Amino acid sequence: MTAAALAATARRLFTDGPPAWRLLQIYRPYICPFDVIIDAVPQGARVLDIGCGGGLLLGLLAAAGRIGGGIGFDTSVPAVELARGMAGRSFPGRLDFEALAVQDSWPEGTFDVVTAIDVLHHVPPSAQAGVVAQAAAKVRPGGLLLVKDMVTRPWWRAAANHLHDLVLARQWIHTPEGGDIVAWAGAAGLVLERERIDNVLWYGHRLQVFRKGGVAC
Ligand SMILES: C[S@@+](CC[C@H](N)C(=O)[O-])C[C@H]1O[C@@H](n2cnc3c(N)ncnc32)[C@H](O)[C@@H]1O
Repeated sequence: MTAAALAATARRLFTDGPPAWRLLQIYRPYICPFDVIIDAVPQGARVLDIGCGGGLLLGLLAAAGRIGGGIGFDTSVPAVELARGMAGRSFPGRLDFEALAVQDSWPEGTFDVVTAIDVLHHVPPSAQAGVVAQAAAKVRPGGLLLVKDMVTRPWWRAAANHLHDLVLARQWIHTPEGGDIVAWAGAAGLVLERERIDNVLWYGHRLQVFRKGGVAC
């Protein structure tokens, strides 16, 4: 799956809604390695996507026939409306989206996979450990937590991402250290299975795949 192929799928999925929001979904695969994230999701998984934005990840996973179903939530009402429109047109009854913040009560149940893609750095540092613990609690025994965030080194890649969010989200972000995420997830009973860095243009991305012990997959 190339970035161009994922962008083409996004173009097919996001055919309605505010043009700027749609463009954001269509061009996001060129700056964020969605191919790597999709590859880390086991076939047939049921996924909870925290801070799902416009629903791009769940839409791409469903379009690839990768997941049985999914729920996404995000604090942004316009983003959730975009996601709901996409899901209603292309995957009726399979994907659900809710307007919620991480501070609210999360959707019921546990999931095969919980994903947090570029959301932790938008959460205040004092709340980040709690979000990882809550995400871990939503993973079924034997399931996975995927955390994709930005690198903190080298300084110029971190600076590029800060600038990106200052312009697009008008927010000064707080990118967590990879080691801190490992410690928070470990305290919640998850083990780091693998980690990788992908540099895309001037952005540096770190994907961490954690597994919850208990039952073999
Ligand atoms: C960089 S975007 C990533 C969106 C999506 N995960 C993706 O990769 O396309 C960060 C998202 O986190 C959401 N967000 C920020 N703070 C949040 C919070 N406290 N609770 C839930 N979502 C939040 C924003 O609204 C935004 O949609």
